Amino acid sequence: MNEDLKKKAAELRQALHRHNYLYYVLDEPEVSDAEYDRLMRELTALETAHPELVEPDSPTQRVGAPPLEKFETVAHTIPMLSLENAFDEEEVLAFDQRVRRFLKADEKILYTAEPKMDGVAVELVYENGLLRQASTRGDGYTGELITLNIRTIKTVPLALVNTPLAPVPSRLEVRGEVFIPLTAFKQLNKGRLDQGEAPFANPRNATAGSLRQLDSRITAKRPLDIFCYGVGRVTGLEFASHWKMLEALRALRFPVNPHIKPQAGIEEILIYYKKLLDRRHEFSYEMDGMVIKVDNLALQKKLGEKSRSPRWALAYKFPPTQETTRVLKIDVQVGRTGALTPVALLEPVSVGGVTVSRATLHNEDEIKRKDIRAGDTVLIQRAGDVIPEVVKAITTKRTGTERVFHMPATCPVCGSRVLRLEGEAAARCVNANCPAQVKERIKHFASKGAFDIDGLGDKLVGQLVDKGLLRSYADLFFLDKASVAGLDRMAEKSARNLMDAIARSKQISLGRFFYALGIRHVGEHIAHVLARRFKSLDALMSATAEALMAIDEIGPRVSESVRAFLENPENQRNIRRMLEAGVMPKTEEAVANQALAGMTFVLTGALESMTRPEAKARIETLGGKVSASVSRKTTCVLAGRGPGSKLDKARQLGLRILNEAQFIEIVS
Ligand code: IVH
Repeated sequence: MNEDLKKKAAELRQALHRHNYLYYVLDEPEVSDAEYDRLMRELTALETAHPELVEPDSPTQRVGAPPLEKFETVAHTIPMLSLENAFDEEEVLAFDQRVRRFLKADEKILYTAEPKMDGVAVELVYENGLLRQASTRGDGYTGELITLNIRTIKTVPLALVNTPLAPVPSRLEVRGEVFIPLTAFKQLNKGRLDQGEAPFANPRNATAGSLRQLDSRITAKRPLDIFCYGVGRVTGLEFASHWKMLEALRALRFPVNPHIKPQAGIEEILIYYKKLLDRRHEFSYEMDGMVIKVDNLALQKKLGEKSRSPRWALAYKFPPTQETTRVLKIDVQVGRTGALTPVALLEPVSVGGVTVSRATLHNEDEIKRKDIRAGDTVLIQRAGDVIPEVVKAITTKRTGTERVFHMPATCPVCGSRVLRLEGEAAARCVNANCPAQVKERIKHFASKGAFDIDGLGDKLVGQLVDKGLLRSYADLFFLDKASVAGLDRMAEKSARNLMDAIARSKQISLGRFFYALGIRHVGEHIAHVLARRFKSLDALMSATAEALMAIDEIGPRVSESVRAFLENPENQRNIRRMLEAGVMPKTEEAVANQALAGMTFVLTGALESMTRPEAKARIETLGGKVSASVSRKTTCVLAGRGPGSKLDKARQLGLRILNEAQFIEIVS
């Protein structure tokens, strides 16, 4: 074995582990995607040429392995207990009292508070820094071995590295909760519905189903993530408190929830709970409560455990997000691709603090499967920012007046024929010029991951289409300010802002451009894959089906859809018109090479030589972003005359602060 090659492979593995961590866990990449891909290709090539170099901790080994016959079971060295639940403040205060009585403590006890993740509990076992084994909680004493599945989770470290805060222990059992973030969950379900498969009821079920796959190659395709919150047996590393333990895990590059509140008395913990509850729907994942833990590990040990749960911890649950209400009517909505989605109009009801009056019913088969009828009393649920859903009909409440739903034979918006192709879950309006479809296509076109046109909201798109000012997204680049200013609730200034935003959006990356087109089966990810492969619009336009299929992630379905879209004369005309209007799709590299690419600015105070919108436009044309509030992600704060509290915050965070003269020097 050539020692140089061995060393090279080890270096590549380490570099990739680090970039993987920076990208997936910290969301602070240091290298471009292209550079990461290059390192990964180099390692793959090296391993293909010299298979003996492949190590189990290689980042190339996250894609899954051939299916297992069944899961082996494994005993946990230390049982994985569950938690006692509390449902109101009184029960939490009683817990604190109990803890103090037990410890005979006069002073207040310090706790940590953590979001209670609604996922699946797992244990990861590391020996001498290598991930050797991963298992489910099972009955708390024995679980199923799901090592191959856990390896596919990008945020799970495969190999640990020494840090000053935490040397790699010889044995480390880490516990945590695997979950699927909400946006990814929505996408996953959308994909399943498109394929005619039953959607998952909620992110937790989707997580459990994904971890229970015997074929880890399927698991690898599921958007799983993890937060670690505890340890089992540890040899070779010690900590005095739960919080210090979490810090050690973080140092070892385990993902630890950044919202965990360290050491505080019970009153503060109760305030934290209220905040968490208020803001739970702003989180990108589901929580079902808060976990309180006595922070001091010596005290934890003294408190010990009851039969199934420790005396030192408590779960303070959130109120349920399920309610019952009545379906007043089943309406049908027409989407971007003409798909007809039945929607239940509900008697308004408050679910987890938000009034719900509509819930999606997905498609005809789903309604049939759940047998939901207009007039039914139903159980509905709201999960984070996911669209409320009808879980089931409460059939015992039926009176006989409920009406069974039938998909209309004609489009409720334009009256055209409705067609359901064999093997497809969705019935579709066949008229591509149906106003409902046009509106949805334009909304998609202007959305965040696409042209990101500020100020072009749903209502405005509706008006523009209804007034005949927009027939396609290409028309956006030919709007004139006078007709926009003439619309309801549009003043001169808002019209100007919109025109500016449209003009700015013309500098766009190829990936966003492809995504914006709204080609069926081409989501954000595939659009960027296409951009990376073809590097120009021309190249994609002339790509053959074979060239498309030669790409790893693209199969016949996507390839056919892309070809059909690009061969359609109307789509070709729209693309041509956009280019004529000055839309300039560029490669990611070209966008990244703009002077301010990757930088986020915050503006505060008044400028002498330009207005704030002008400064914003300058920054954006040079590839920078402008954000309204200061955070760690801010690169620079531009402070004009009479700056506000944003300047103080920037100073606190030690951010770079520019005055107007310095700013002008940079942008010119
Ligand atoms: S601590 C003995 N911390 O809740 C300590 N559990 O009902 C037991 N969970 O099985 C676990 N987030 O699946 C802990 N921050 C967190 C948690 C958490 C979610 C789950 C875990 C556990 C269940 C107990």
